[in-house]
Amino acid sequence: MSRRRLIGAAIAACATILLAGCQAGHGGSPGTSHLVVGFAQVGAESSWRTANTKDIESAFQHAGITLRFSDAEQQQANQIAAIRSYIQQRVSVIAFSPVVESGWDTVLQEAKAAGIPVILTDRAISTDDPSLYVTRLGSDFTKEGEKAGVWAKKEFAAASSVKVLEIEGTTGSAPAIGRTKGFEKEIGDDSKFSIVDSQDGGFTRAGGEQVMEAQLKAHPDVDLVYAQNDDMALGAIQAIEGAGERPGKQIKVISVDATHDGMEALAQGKINFIVECNPLLGDELVKLVKKVTAGKSVPRRIEPPERTFTQEQAIAALPTRKY
Ligand code: AHR
Repeated sequence: MSRRRLIGAAIAACATILLAGCQAGHGGSPGTSHLVVGFAQVGAESSWRTANTKDIESAFQHAGITLRFSDAEQQQANQIAAIRSYIQQRVSVIAFSPVVESGWDTVLQEAKAAGIPVILTDRAISTDDPSLYVTRLGSDFTKEGEKAGVWAKKEFAAASSVKVLEIEGTTGSAPAIGRTKGFEKEIGDDSKFSIVDSQDGGFTRAGGEQVMEAQLKAHPDVDLVYAQNDDMALGAIQAIEGAGERPGKQIKVISVDATHDGMEALAQGKINFIVECNPLLGDELVKLVKKVTAGKSVPRRIEPPERTFTQEQAIAALPTRKY
């Protein structure tokens, strides 16, 4: 075979191999089937989290990109171990929703040294080194807290005193910090509001119920419960009903998330107002992974679309609610 023919045959063989590589993915676009993303999830503490996991898994499956998934069971140590394992596996991108805000610098420096880009999904971290992650895709939790405070001020406009119980999410987590800050800032300029207590309900239904049970004994005259997610609000509702009181009537309830169960309770008048926190981050995360691995620039911060719900709005939205 002549030298020119030999080169031609070699080029044709390479093209065939490349084409086969591109077609190996399941519905993925050409050039992404080789990507592997390590995703370190917080846990399975709430219905919001379940919806978030499901959405991310399905988006990656649809894109034909391999997703390695780990559940940290709300423990930072587990999440750090998962990230270290993804570094060892030399994945293309690490994505994670940090259990708490602080304490990530060491492990993220290891990812950086290994040349693996990190994307934060949902929750934020606090660090002095902005180079430790590429972008954060998630809600503005302070804004969510402010929306809850604005509603409380309107709802109790005619009252002379309002006793508030805060059922907070996991201590040290970005949503607990932001939702407390935004809410307290908003009601802080109205002296008729007093916070009788703020307790950690761990973003779980059982946590919300336990906190409410204890607080009803200590503060039976509470007017408003600000639960920082739907699961804790639903737990609190159970405790209020168990004590023979009517949630949404004698004790008003504000919640965050707008999951299906939360919206049902809002439609029934047991919750009075919900601030939405959007868990459907999968498609946007896939887009970010594709851009980052292609060396394209991405915005430093991406917020999903979110709104608030009253009872009437929940009734209208429920039939088509996705989660
Ligand atoms: O980080 C988002 C929060 O975490 C959601 O509001 C809550 O339900 C979840 O557990």
